[in-house]
Amino acid sequence: MTIIEPHGHKLISKVDYNYDYSSISKEIELDLMALSDLELIATGAYSPLTGFMGEKDYNSVGEKMRLANGLVWSIPITLPVTAALSSRLTIGEKIKLVFAGEVYGILHLHEKYKPDKKLEAKQVYKTTDPAHPGVAKLFNRPDVYLAGPITLVRPPRSKSLFPDFYYNPKETREEFINRGWKTIVAFQTRNPIHRAHEYIQKCSLEVVDGLLLHPLVGETKADDIPPAIRMNSYQILLQNYYPKNRVHLGVFPAAMRYAGPREAIFHALIRKNYGCSHFIVGRDHAGVGDYYGTYEAQEIFSLFSKSELGIKPLFFDHAYYCKKCSQITTKKTCPHGTQDHIHLSGTKVREMLRRGEFPPKEFSRLEVIQSLIKGLKS
Ligand code: ADX
Repeated sequence: MTIIEPHGHKLISKVDYNYDYSSISKEIELDLMALSDLELIATGAYSPLTGFMGEKDYNSVGEKMRLANGLVWSIPITLPVTAALSSRLTIGEKIKLVFAGEVYGILHLHEKYKPDKKLEAKQVYKTTDPAHPGVAKLFNRPDVYLAGPITLVRPPRSKSLFPDFYYNPKETREEFINRGWKTIVAFQTRNPIHRAHEYIQKCSLEVVDGLLLHPLVGETKADDIPPAIRMNSYQILLQNYYPKNRVHLGVFPAAMRYAGPREAIFHALIRKNYGCSHFIVGRDHAGVGDYYGTYEAQEIFSLFSKSELGIKPLFFDHAYYCKKCSQITTKKTCPHGTQDHIHLSGTKVREMLRRGEFPPKEFSRLEVIQSLIKGLKS
């Protein structure tokens, strides 16, 4: 075995495109988050999950960041429906999972339960503030959770949206083996790649065989840059500034939760399933606003042993451009004060790009900015 084992030792596959569901009459309409979760469960990205979580796993994940069997897992994976719809469904029956009029999956209904959403918000997001986009999403989804194993009966929607960059965990694992990579670092992002991102990726590339550049392309909050526009900017950056044989670009179809520390653990475990041995966690990973401390998403890793996580986190300090050093750096290597640093918040940069303004070249490569401004205009 040259490549890391999946979480729970076995890569799950719950895909059957020949599944005959003609005799199943009941159906439920999925939202984008549930659709992406269905695809990610079925393709093994969420191994060892084989379906939407039952109450025992849900409670255990909320309280202990572990599945009921003790395996580390930090984010509930749930299928919410209205109480009215739930009352029409019977335990034991099969239900079609539909999105935009197409049947994507089948749920074998094992359980229905009513979650305590306030508690879930506190546990997962550390806040019940409805201004938090993850909490807002949680509260806006319906109130009864369905659980049970699933089967994916139609190729993932994310594959049709990003055909050239869609690789499921089995495919990334094969790709890494074919490239002869044994140590692979994954980089999660929901943003364009700016020079601070590039710096931490390239620092990592100095010590591992390859980089899986794995931008999240599932549902994000409204003001994040749309994935199709970001994908162009990633390709342009890779063509111009990275050696071709060191990076594999693939989409990560999950929805963004903005759950900060808990989502960092989740992101890492999933990248282990994609075959990665290392995972980059920088400043305020998966954070939003001021809900989490700058390094909370790094500190949370100390709650778990190296062996139960399997994948190794690579922690990075806040990186910035220093005018005196004339390079991207961090306080670990730069002695100069903030007056010499160039730092722009993500929100500020998004506003500039939308106005067609160019952030400084020290912050972002010119080619990347050009591609983003062009994409946002059209
Ligand atoms: S995230 O929500 O996907 O985490 P983003 O795309 O901004 O947001 O970040 C991707 C990764 O880069 C995360 O691990 C994050 O912590 C890290 N990161 C972003 N900006 C910086 C920075 N200036 N310095 C260090 N790490 C950073």
